Formats: sequence, structure tokens, C-alpha cells
Amino acid sequence: MNLKLKTIANLINKEDIVLDTCCDHAYLAIYLKKNNLCQNVYASDISKNALNNALANIQKNKVNIKTFLSDGFKNINEPTINTVIIAGVGTNTILDIINNTPKNIQKFIISSNNNYYDLRKKMFKKGFYIQKELIIKENNKYYPIMLFTKNKTKETKNTLKFGKSNNKEYYNYLLNKELLILNKIPKNHLIQKLKHQKNIKYLKKI
Ligand SMILES: C[S@@+](CC[C@H](N)C(=O)[O-])C[C@H]1O[C@@H](n2cnc3c(N)ncnc32)[C@H](O)[C@@H]1O
Repeated sequence: MNLKLKTIANLINKEDIVLDTCCDHAYLAIYLKKNNLCQNVYASDISKNALNNALANIQKNKVNIKTFLSDGFKNINEPTINTVIIAGVGTNTILDIINNTPKNIQKFIISSNNNYYDLRKKMFKKGFYIQKELIIKENNKYYPIMLFTKNKTKETKNTLKFGKSNNKEYYNYLLNKELLILNKIPKNHLIQKLKHQKNIKYLKKI
């Protein structure tokens, strides 16, 4: 299992009843079940092909995991699920899935492929706060993994933009990205320049 899935598994608690949407091969669900890391785990995917692979892996590993062929929660009716994992897809798909989840879901563990600011902002608007954010680096790309719950925590424009990972290497990478953008903005585009200067000031401070 890769670093991303292991990091997600570390955010799961014993009492969680988990659905891994977008499970693909179901490696994460199998790992959680085999190591008894949660109360129960379900796995789902929108793709028949992916789900067939998941089923084959589940059988091979001799574990008991109920699976669903489903776009997000659309074909799932398991009211005990309290924790949802959505990983390896983009922010638009993630938000579509979340818009159709039952209201009783307490905890989301999310690893998006893009648009993290948008994701954090929209989750905040839905009343979900970042409890933890971990950064992993795979194939030279950084992936934030976010744990959201309804427990209120302080969010600012900057925490929504840059997350709450406190990962210096990641912040340095973001800082260099901001500097590159700033250097490309023509001198007379003052408002645009100011926005990036503010980002740079914040990233230098943390
Ligand atoms: C790149 S894989 C990610 C696998 C694993 N979660 C990971 O992060 O390594 C993306 C999976 O998401 C599934 N998927 C995409 N949109 C979905 C949706 N709306 N509902 C459920 N599964 C979806 C795809 O079929 C695919 O198997």
C-alpha cells in the first residue's frame, strides 16, 4: 500500500464505521479490515471494472467487506457509516459526492488531486473544519490529506488557502510557486501583485 493510503489509514479511529468511496482496488479498505483499525469498513466505486478488481482483492485477502457500485453515496443506504474517505479524485467530484452524503456523517478524510483552496472554502461553508492536515510527497508532487469534522476550529483566509499542515517543506514549495507567479505579473497590475505579495508575506512568516 502506498504512503498516501497509509497516511489516510492513520487518521482512522477504532470506533469509525468507514466508507471508502472511490476505493478502486480496495487496498485501503482491506488494510483497515485486516489490521482491525476500525469498527467496520465498506468500499465503493463508480466503475464496474474497479469494483471487480476490488472484489477480487477482497477475496484474495479473505476479508469480509461489503462493496457497492455507486456514484458517491447514490446507491448506498448504510445509516451506521460515520466516516467517509474520498481520495484520488478532483475537488469537483469530491464536492459532488459530499453534496449527496447523509447528514449524519461526522468525519471526512479527503485527498484531492487539485483545487485545495476551493475544497477547504466549500467544506468550511458546509460547516466542516480542518482538524488535521498532513502533506505527503509522491512522484515529486505534494498531496495534502485533510481530516474534516464539525468540531469548530479557527479558520482564516490563509488557513483556507494554504492549509494547516505546518509542513515547512510544503510551505517552501508554495512560497517558491508564489514568487514565480509574482515575477511574471507585469508591474502595472498592482492588485494582482499585491495579492501574491500578501501570500508571500504569510508563507515567509509560518
Ligand atoms: C485514482 S483512483 C483512486 C484510488 C484510491 N482512492 C487512491 O487514492 O489511491 C480514483 C477512483 O475513483 C473512482 N471514482 C471517480 N468518481 C467517482 C464517484 N463519483 N463515485 C465513486 N467513485 C468514483 C474511479 O472509478 C477510480 O477507481
